[in-house]
Order: sequence, then C-alpha cells, then structure tokens
Amino acid sequence: DAEQPTLNPTSATAQNLERAAELLRKHTAPVAFPTETVYGLGAAATSTAAVRQIFAAKQRPSDNPLIVHVSSVAQLRRVLGIEVPQIYRRLVDKFWPGPLTIILPLPRGTVVSPACTPGQTTVGVRMPAHPVARALIAISDTPLAAPSANASTKPSPTTAAHVLADMAGRIPLVLDGGSCSVGVESTVVDGTVRPPAVLRPGGVSVEMIREVGGEEWKDVVVGKSEAGKHESVRTPGMKYRHYSPRARVIVFVGAGEGGRVVKEYLERTESSEVAVLTSKLFETSGWDDSTRSRIKTIRSLGTTGADIARNLFAGLRDADEELQAENSDNSKAVILVEGVSDDDEGAAIMNRLRKAASEIYEDGEWTVKESS
Ligand code: TXA
Ligand code: MG
Repeated sequence: DAEQPTLNPTSATAQNLERAAELLRKHTAPVAFPTETVYGLGAAATSTAAVRQIFAAKQRPSDNPLIVHVSSVAQLRRVLGIEVPQIYRRLVDKFWPGPLTIILPLPRGTVVSPACTPGQTTVGVRMPAHPVARALIAISDTPLAAPSANASTKPSPTTAAHVLADMAGRIPLVLDGGSCSVGVESTVVDGTVRPPAVLRPGGVSVEMIREVGGEEWKDVVVGKSEAGKHESVRTPGMKYRHYSPRARVIVFVGAGEGGRVVKEYLERTESSEVAVLTSKLFETSGWDDSTRSRIKTIRSLGTTGADIARNLFAGLRDADEELQAENSDNSKAVILVEGVSDDDEGAAIMNRLRKAASEIYEDGEWTVKESS
C-alpha cells in the first residue's frame, strides 16, 4: 500500500515474500509473519545485530530467550548443526510442523547468536506449520529467531492488524496471512532434563504429549505456570507481566446461574466501563439498570476449547479497543473473562488468563493477584 510508506500491511504475495526474505538476509530489520499459533517477529537467528533489533522493537527484556524457527529438520542440521535428540523423535514426527517447541542443548561452537539464548545452555526450536512462515524461512534460507510480534506485556497478535497496532513505525513489513488458526503460542517442552518437562502449555496439549511422546513422556512434569518476579524459572519469559490489555482483566471460572458471579463482581466494585467475554452468553435483562448499564459489550469467545483458544487474544484486544473508545478514565475499565477447566486446550488458555488477571474467581472463591 503506497500510501503507508513506513509500515506496509502487505499480503503474503510471492513478491512480498521475496522482499521480506531480502530484509532478513541482509539483517536490515525484523519482519512480522504469520504462524499457525500467533504472529512472529523474525530476524536471522545467526546474527546478533539482527536479533537485537527484535528486542528493541518489542521492548523485550534482554534475558528472555527466543525460539528459533526452521523450515525443515534438514535446515536445522545444515545451517545450525543441530540434530534432533532421540527423546523428541515421536513428538517431532507427530507435531512438526506445528505448535511444538523443543529445548535442545546448544552445540559446541554454535552459530546460533547468543542473543537468542541469553544465559542458557539450550536453545528452543520450532518448525511452524503456516505455509507463509515455512516459505519465508525456506526462501531466506535463514532460521528465524522469532518471539510473538506484540509489544512486550501486550496480548500476542493473531492478525496482521494486531501487529500493526503494536509495531507501527518500528518495523518495515508485516506479511498478512489472515487469522491464526491455533491462537495461543506453541507448547514448550524440555527433554534435556529427567523427567522431561512442559515449560509452557500451548497449542499441543499435555495429554497429547503423554499419549504420543513415548515412554519417557508418560511422566512429563508440567512446569509451574507462574513464578514470582524474583523466582528463577526454567522458562525465563514466564516471570514477566504478560498478555495485558490496558483494561484490568478479571477472570471467572463459571458465570453461575444467569451470570450471577459477574453481577456480584459489578455490585461490589466501581468499575464503570465493562466488557464481558464469556462462553455461553447470559441474560442481563433482569439486572438492575445501574449494574447492567455498565456493561458496554458482552461477547462469546466460543464454546469449545479450540474456539476459545483461537479467539482469546483477539477478544482481549477488541474489548480493550471498545472500552478505550468510550472511556478516558482507563483506571475503571475492566474486562471480565470466563475461564475454563485446565484440561486439554484449557491449560494453555488458563495459563494466559492467570497471567493477565488481576483477580480470579475459581472454586467459589475470589483471589486478588498482587503483581498486576
Ligand atoms: O508459538 C510460538 O511459540 C510463537 C510463534 C511466533 O512461534 N513464539 C513465541 O515466542 O511465543 P515468545 O518469545 O513470545 O515465547 C517464547 C517462550 C518464552 O517463554 C521463553 O522464555 C521460552 O519460550 N524459551 C525460549 N527459549 C528457551 C530456552 N532455551 N529455555 C527455556 N525457555 C525458553
Ligand atoms: Mg510472547
């Protein structure tokens, strides 16, 4: 689009793919691209200068390692000199390309830039399934270090428009590949430790990993989904504020009869600008006017785990926009989001929601979170 010279929300044509590949090969600037999980912000994983540009554009803390994306196992071996260890064989056969990141020991004399793996002896690698991601990596012949393409602390982007909202003026190009089909980030698994661990729940469920991974993965440990700011965790990214729109996020697991839980929350707080993201819509017509009128929007994220995962980040961003449009006093804006049970896709959803939430209603009790 010639009218927007600084940031071009281009579609993923062959010509634009080549342009993006050229920016990546020359280490000119990071490029945003679609994956099946969320949009990534990529740069050549072998170039420290290029990788630093990612941290700058996102304003990401520099001690948080990046996942390296490859287009094939052959490229992983040929360009980075990395073999897939035996323990991952079944998982990789089943879930690559796809939303699974594996942690590997960094080989001696590695060409992976240390900026991708600050302070780590390991590197996280993933082969994305999205055809645009695969094509971009293959055409540039450059494994890409790529975090999610949001500004640090914001919900991850699942459309090119989300990337533009955060990155306008910071990067030259977004390849538009439509909405992401998975909607939450990859599952990060660590098979370098015994028992192996899930460091971040994501697009592949823990149940699937146990079922498919082979004998060692039957006892997989699911890493803590949360850690205090000063706690050391094996996935450094987990300690930072995350997935936060501007409005406060309040999570409720189960709305109760007729949205009772939501109604009670509104009655005991002053939040004046409220968005509700729920699974099954409930009727508010019987509520008293002063409570009901504070709800600016009420929407369903879907009913299946897969739907909720796909719609979650977009739902948070859209609700935030809507509240922002009406409201100058941001401190009273609240997004109430319905949580789910922690099984299957639910684990990834609840991991994101717990991080975003400043208060959560679960098992009949409200808990205030201190860090938000
Ligand atoms: O689906 C995804 O994984 C997306 C798309 C773009 O591929 N990427 C993504 O990257 O979510 P990012 O940077 O937002 O999250 C990477 C997570 C962080 O929590 C980071 O700490 C962890 O993976 N990680 C990366 N390398 C690691 C390593 N060597 N050891 C432990 N954790 C690692
Ligand atoms: Mg991220």
